[in-house]
Amino acid sequence: MIITNHVLTGAVVGAMAPSVPAAVAAGVASHFALDAVPHFGVPDRYFMRLAVPDGLVGLAAIAVVAARTPADRRGRVLAGIVGACLPDMDKPSRQFFGRSPFPALLDDYWTTGTRASSTSRCAGSRSSCARPRSPSLPWFAASAVPRVAVMDLVALESRARDLLPQGVYDYYAGGAEAEVTLGEAGSAWQARRLRPRMLRDVSSVSTATTLLGTAVSMPIGVAPWALQGMAHPEGESATARGAADAGALMTVPTTATVPLEEVAKASDGPKWFQLYRVRDGAYTDELVLRAADAGYRALVMTVDLPVLGRRLRDLVNEFVLPDDIRLANHPPTDSLGERTLDGALGTIASTWTFDDVGHFAALTSMPVVVKGVLRDDDARQCVDAGAAAVWVSTHGGRQADPVVSSASALPAVVGTVGEDVEVYVDGGLRRGSDVLGALALGARAVFLGRPVIWGLATGGADGVRDVLVELTESLRLTMALCGVTDVRDVPPDLVT
Ligand SMILES: Cc1cc2nc3c(=O)[nH]c(=O)nc-3n(C[C@H](O)[C@H](O)[C@H](O)COP(=O)(O)O)c2cc1C
Repeated sequence: MIITNHVLTGAVVGAMAPSVPAAVAAGVASHFALDAVPHFGVPDRYFMRLAVPDGLVGLAAIAVVAARTPADRRGRVLAGIVGACLPDMDKPSRQFFGRSPFPALLDDYWTTGTRASSTSRCAGSRSSCARPRSPSLPWFAASAVPRVAVMDLVALESRARDLLPQGVYDYYAGGAEAEVTLGEAGSAWQARRLRPRMLRDVSSVSTATTLLGTAVSMPIGVAPWALQGMAHPEGESATARGAADAGALMTVPTTATVPLEEVAKASDGPKWFQLYRVRDGAYTDELVLRAADAGYRALVMTVDLPVLGRRLRDLVNEFVLPDDIRLANHPPTDSLGERTLDGALGTIASTWTFDDVGHFAALTSMPVVVKGVLRDDDARQCVDAGAAAVWVSTHGGRQADPVVSSASALPAVVGTVGEDVEVYVDGGLRRGSDVLGALALGARAVFLGRPVIWGLATGGADGVRDVLVELTESLRLTMALCGVTDVRDVPPDLVT
């Protein structure tokens, strides 16, 4: 339909144009005018299915025009059609030649749907530059993703991929080295099988629970992820509002693009603060105290990033932080070297040991959660050192690679410390059945990284809320189908 529309409107405006160049210009204009109402609210996948018949109708239209139109007008009609279809060359030329044939203004419009030019803001290669957006711009209105589309996380990711600059998408989506861990994260959950129980009254199913004493509507929280301002102009504040609307807990990263105090105020929802070591011990301690003052309810020490993993996509893209993106909780810097990931995140290189768990447990009244544990012996030492909870994670496959999946590491950690402390898990959880499996293996809750990123990038706070709500609905349904009525009481033998 999109192709046909472009061809037909191109033909009509071409026919009315006074000259061939005017016909081309009118064709291009008609293309963008049509795109201002992208897809008329119909999800992408329907367009994919329509693409072939649609293309054929377009070709037939050209043939009819060529055969029937008087010769003097034919040239202008065809010029109008060429103009209308020209912008479609953008994507193939990006793919094959690495750049768009269009000036930045049109290119921005095409890539993100915004008309804002971004060239002046790019610190490095074009592809790694985030573009300025505002909720009032057309792409954003168009990205009010139908709720049903959020259930299809693969489609949601591909929508986000279309909106984001390639370098930013790769930074979010990628893993380390050969991305083996990243690739196996989801399949490790799917390799497990549920053993549904029958003849239980499931007329009422509860997903509410508590995390370190804090009440939440679902055992699904938002994992900390860096640089949210590249996905949405309001960054972590929008995520905070979406999570609160859903009734979920959010973990706010040290690497936020909005200061931790501002994110704390962005919503009433419960929040934990995720800690990296920044610059030096004193600065890091100060951050912890600021988080406690701002009302964060727990401190999440991420321990699987002693150094930055080798992320090939970012190296190939020469990814640098866009000019107006700053690490709001880090000391200010203007040095270009520190705008590379290694430079910026290198400042968080950790010298932490188990003693530091005890240090932070003593420094603050916030309970300390240790994130990034994959071994039962490490989990035991963390708890002995003062951790109130342990979070099993591969850091989304972005650090050592290949490593054991979270799904396979979880049972031993639960077996060792599960009686003493709460255990959480993240990595590749995408469906209610994955979540139920994790709960049956002993996790108190699971956390999401990339699905929330795609929700934020495509729909802002609403997108975040919808991702969390839809996954919870999927969990609720799976619970009912499996004869489970309470997420705090999932029998271990529900999963094999
Ligand atoms: C783009 C990105 C940035 C991340 N940044 C952080 C971070 O700053 N701190 C942290 O503890 N974990 C970080 N993580 C890891 C997540 O907290 C989480 O462990 C992981 O994303 C879960 O896997 P999933 O994306 O498959 O759900 C990041 C993950 C991604 C994808």
